[in-house]
Amino acid sequence: MCGIVGYIGSRQAFPILMKGLYRLEYRGYDSAGIALLNGDLKLYKTKGKVADLEKFVFGKDITGTVGIAHTRWATHGEPNNVNAHPHFSQSRNLAIIHNGIIENYLALKKELISRGYKFESDTDTEVLIHLIDDIRNNEGVTLDEAVRIALNEVVGAYAIAIISKNDPDMLVAARKGSPLVVGIGIDEFFLASDAAPIVEHTKEVIYLNDEEIVCIRRGEQIKIKTIKNKNKTPYSQKLEMNLSEIEKGGFDHFMLKEIYEQPRSILDSMRGRLNARQGKVKLGGIIDYEQKMANAQRIIIVACGTSWHAGLVGEYLFEDLARIPVEVEYASEFRYRNPIITEDDIVIAISQSGETADTLAAIELAKSKGATIIGICNVVGSSIARATHAGSYTHAGPEIGVASTKAFTAQVTILTLMALRLAQMRGTIKKTRFYQILNELESIPDKVSETLKIDTKIKELASLFIGTRNFLYLGRGYNFPVAMEGALKLKEISYIHAEGYPAAEMKHGPIALIDQEMPVVVIATNKGTYDKVISNIQEVKARRGIIIAIVTKGDVAVKDLADYIIEVPETEELLVPLLATIPLQLLSYHIAVGRNCNVDQPRNLAKSVTVE
Ligand code: AGP
Ligand code: GLU
Repeated sequence: MCGIVGYIGSRQAFPILMKGLYRLEYRGYDSAGIALLNGDLKLYKTKGKVADLEKFVFGKDITGTVGIAHTRWATHGEPNNVNAHPHFSQSRNLAIIHNGIIENYLALKKELISRGYKFESDTDTEVLIHLIDDIRNNEGVTLDEAVRIALNEVVGAYAIAIISKNDPDMLVAARKGSPLVVGIGIDEFFLASDAAPIVEHTKEVIYLNDEEIVCIRRGEQIKIKTIKNKNKTPYSQKLEMNLSEIEKGGFDHFMLKEIYEQPRSILDSMRGRLNARQGKVKLGGIIDYEQKMANAQRIIIVACGTSWHAGLVGEYLFEDLARIPVEVEYASEFRYRNPIITEDDIVIAISQSGETADTLAAIELAKSKGATIIGICNVVGSSIARATHAGSYTHAGPEIGVASTKAFTAQVTILTLMALRLAQMRGTIKKTRFYQILNELESIPDKVSETLKIDTKIKELASLFIGTRNFLYLGRGYNFPVAMEGALKLKEISYIHAEGYPAAEMKHGPIALIDQEMPVVVIATNKGTYDKVISNIQEVKARRGIIIAIVTKGDVAVKDLADYIIEVPETEELLVPLLATIPLQLLSYHIAVGRNCNVDQPRNLAKSVTVE
């Protein structure tokens, strides 16, 4: 949640920080603020978007070569002007920005109030800056040392950055649980929640680890120590991101760009890992663990949201191909329900951002019980990628739209490769069948391109449902998770209520909702339980529901029953999710645009959920 940017160097900080905020806005966008040092410590903040902040500072003094900026996703206190970050210390000498939650803030706040501190905001963050100020004043220590001492009293998650009027050539930052990257330029340093604001300035970065504090002084080497006061040697890495990956490239929205990137992103997920001609599937990142995975008595998949839906597809794939029992768990439930985990268990954690707090906590729990943790992450170097024993990156490229699209298909691609490899190792698949699936998988990027051609038709269809209040999505087998994902996409960005259901389960309840007003999106591709799904469609039609059916090209039976049909190319049943998802993404997108919704930054959501 929330985006953090910082700068110290010889250039004016304001334009760099503002551009950085725009790049990070997808992480949180209920208010924004900036603090700049130029003799004085100036602080500007306002509720609303980064553009509102830009308007707000118009005509004000924005000079300074050191600064910090923040775009918030409120956890403590309404999204208003006062609660927006940065926050001042009481003396107004220090300013802080924070991403995360200080869990023991109430106890600390009480203590600070009894010592005469006055609070302006309702945030947990303000507690931290008063605490640092208090330590600095009473113990006469340097700012970075005061930060270190304060962080030892804090329970919770944080990425913070602090500047001080009394130390105008210094920027102090620290992290635990929330991400923070330092960019190293020539005579200048950048700080950000992810690499997006940094990539156009430098490719040399340092990913901070949990409980590390970085002290950046103008003209000096950066210093890193832990909150336990152990010096660390900074380890810099080369960024593998390009600027074009984080720009819209002519599309109206990041989401649409990312939907259209899928032929490429799916190919990138398979690149170097799949060779259909030679019958080879090789996932380099898990090679040391694949035997253990192949021997597993069961696999537990933990994830949230869209990644959880990918996990459900994974369950079908692993059970179907490799004959390994799979449990798919919401990470948030798993972590709190005293699950039975043994050293023989394989836990697969799926996460686009690699920062989701619940998934990270589920990993830590499983790890503490001795399980082997395999990650499927998109963001290279992310917390989850580092917390796992091994894993496969999805290589979908940066996903900026808050609604996940290309990350989902990339996750499903990796899960397919994993399931195929384990099936091969376990001998649960016939050689001819194995080759058949590999060949088909190789053709999927082209079939996704073909599927995208129906965009214009979907746009027309979407225009008929702009005013609709409810939607039902149905699917069976591999298409059940696709239905869930389709419904999630619609509600996230268009605010239309939508439910995803196993098609046959509809008669046990949701059928009561069906009338002539209710559009029912049914994924009715021609394999698996096709005939059964047709019966489910009949059940909806009998109650005068409106059927929008996703069918295989050339379908006849469903065509006669459905009100609207969307065709996808023919493929293997187990690969249908990679195609059937595409029209559902487009449908949500066009309905949301038609309703004038902010597609890339839907209300109340944030791209990476780093809080519980
Ligand atoms: C997807 O459209 C959502 N915004 C959300 O459900 C997301 O998938 C979930 O928060 C998990 O995120 P992760 O993949 O980064 O862990
Ligand atoms: N907990 C802090 C707040 O509510 C920070 C939230 C964020 O990460 O944006 O202000």
